[in-house]
Amino acid sequence: MTRSHQCGELTRGHVGQTVTLMGWVHGRRDHGGVLFVDLRDRYGITQILFDSERNPSAQEQAWELRNEFVVAVTGVVRLRPEDSINPLLPTGEIELEVSTLEVLNQAKTSPFVIEDQVQATEALRLKHRYLDLRRPKMQQLLRLRHEVVHQIRQFLHRQGFLEIETPILTRSTPEGARDYLVPSRVNPGEFFALPQSPQLFKQILMIGGTDRYYQIARCFRDEDLRLDRQPEFTQIDLEMSFVERDSVLTLVENLLATVFKEAAGITLPTPFPRMSFEQAQSQYGTDKPDRRFGLQLHDLSDVARRVNFQVFREAVEAGGLVMALVVKDGARLSRSKVDGLIEVAKGFGAKGLAWVKVIKDWKLDSVIAKYLDPALLQQALPEAGPGDLLLFVADQAKVVYSVLGRLRVHLAGELNLIDRERWEPLWVLDFPLLEYDQDARRYVAIHHPFTAPRGEDLPLLDSNPLQVQAQAYDLVLNGFELGGGSIRIHRSDVQQQVFDLLGIKKDAAQEKFGFLLEALEYGAPPHGGIALGLDRLVMLLGATESIRDVIAFPKTQRAQCLMTEAPSQVNQDQLKELRIKLDVES
Ligand code: AMO
Ligand code: AMP
Repeated sequence: MTRSHQCGELTRGHVGQTVTLMGWVHGRRDHGGVLFVDLRDRYGITQILFDSERNPSAQEQAWELRNEFVVAVTGVVRLRPEDSINPLLPTGEIELEVSTLEVLNQAKTSPFVIEDQVQATEALRLKHRYLDLRRPKMQQLLRLRHEVVHQIRQFLHRQGFLEIETPILTRSTPEGARDYLVPSRVNPGEFFALPQSPQLFKQILMIGGTDRYYQIARCFRDEDLRLDRQPEFTQIDLEMSFVERDSVLTLVENLLATVFKEAAGITLPTPFPRMSFEQAQSQYGTDKPDRRFGLQLHDLSDVARRVNFQVFREAVEAGGLVMALVVKDGARLSRSKVDGLIEVAKGFGAKGLAWVKVIKDWKLDSVIAKYLDPALLQQALPEAGPGDLLLFVADQAKVVYSVLGRLRVHLAGELNLIDRERWEPLWVLDFPLLEYDQDARRYVAIHHPFTAPRGEDLPLLDSNPLQVQAQAYDLVLNGFELGGGSIRIHRSDVQQQVFDLLGIKKDAAQEKFGFLLEALEYGAPPHGGIALGLDRLVMLLGATESIRDVIAFPKTQRAQCLMTEAPSQVNQDQLKELRIKLDVES
């Protein structure tokens, strides 16, 4: 027996036809002489019915059915009575009157009900991922992910890109996380590293004359996990030769516009807005601004210098900043709500959060009102007015940005300021090449060590490295870092110079990246590229909160797979073969 139709397919037009469906029992309702069963597959749900008078033997059999039994049914499609039509279901106008039923497989009682409003804990869902994946929402997300990848492949193929696989067993490719290591049996004592990205290989492909490369690339990073991070994730990784920054940005804009349109019916206007890193920091307190709402940061350091409030004065005198958020209509927030915000700010690392309610005629309601001059505030905050709440943080710039940047996002959620239908892509540009790591006492690359400095800044590499700007770019979507890339260093001497600055000694550079330095000496074309996080892209398009929802078999926050129970211990023989001795109790 084969199925003639899927469970989401039958409508009024099929009435009278004899069809065969196969799927899972989604639920059962007993209506006296008639037994209704909802049959589910990945396409939808069809109501089937067993009538005791017309077909007693089939109904007899149907009493045995339990949820998640796998069945095949054959019968005639008929119109539902007017009062039982379900307009919410594509198949809601019809039902299938069953003549024969075959149970293809039985099922144990499912540990949770398979429906979108699932109550189960995520741990239980991940342990029985095969059951979780049967939920319509999960099927829809898998399909969306497929569609996104399909559109990407088609688009890049049309643009002349070659899809090329790079090794999984390789050397370390530094992207700022720890490596996953794989011991080599045939080379005892030696290890492969799983790639944190295909960065070095894609650059070598350019030197190999490939010109336009892409890969839907699996990357591995042993880092602390969050809602938008997985230890194993997928990049849309691409690289182009003979390009400057803007060619890469334009290509990515067209790629995303196409994917959004074709996979989700969403129009993304191009070109995308652009903003400098500096501007992103000072206006939004972050390098990934969510621009679906306002609530920008305002610098009040000048005012702080002129008022008599010690907390503010001390911060600016110590070289810090005082910045404020203007919460429109926020004066109506209760004292306990405001106290809640203070706690949230402290959780983000603030020493305190000063607040002022602006009331009628620009009078100030606040415990610090006596220190402040309303006229100065009014002048410094032209957008503020009676009814608003002003929130201030005074500290070193880094802390002020980080606290207010996060508080801004928190408030937007709490006050419902985010339009969920809106899409705000943004390029963040003009990053510094390096930052100084106080703990490690050395410079570190902000993007990665292969990112090219701006041509005109090359002389500064020696004299004033922190002033050097990188030819790097980040793509931000609705406050998430969706991608990052850069124009690369294509000259061996410059690459060596940057390694020197980063404190990577000559012999260490040779040892780790000698192959790249050498390849750069054999006619490396100018090149650049980018990688977009596929999982994050699908997560945003699918409007789901967790990256785990768009990965078929994800890992937990503790980097474990609850279904297979990986990672796991291995037996002594395997370890012996690898010449590995464990220093932990097993
Ligand atoms: P980067 O490290 O910025 O750049 O990574 C690019 C994009 O990959 C996604 N991403 C992740 N997604 C899920 N889980 C993770 N743990 C994770 N880490 C990163 C993000 C990020 O923007 N080789 C460079 C790219 C280049 O220069 O071309 C790179 O890997 O969306
Ligand atoms: P204090 O002088 O510590 O009692 O603080 C007076 C007010 O200033 C309180 O409302 C604190 O929450 C607030 N405050 C303290 N430190 C800071 C800071 N670094 N930035 C902003 N407000 C602060």
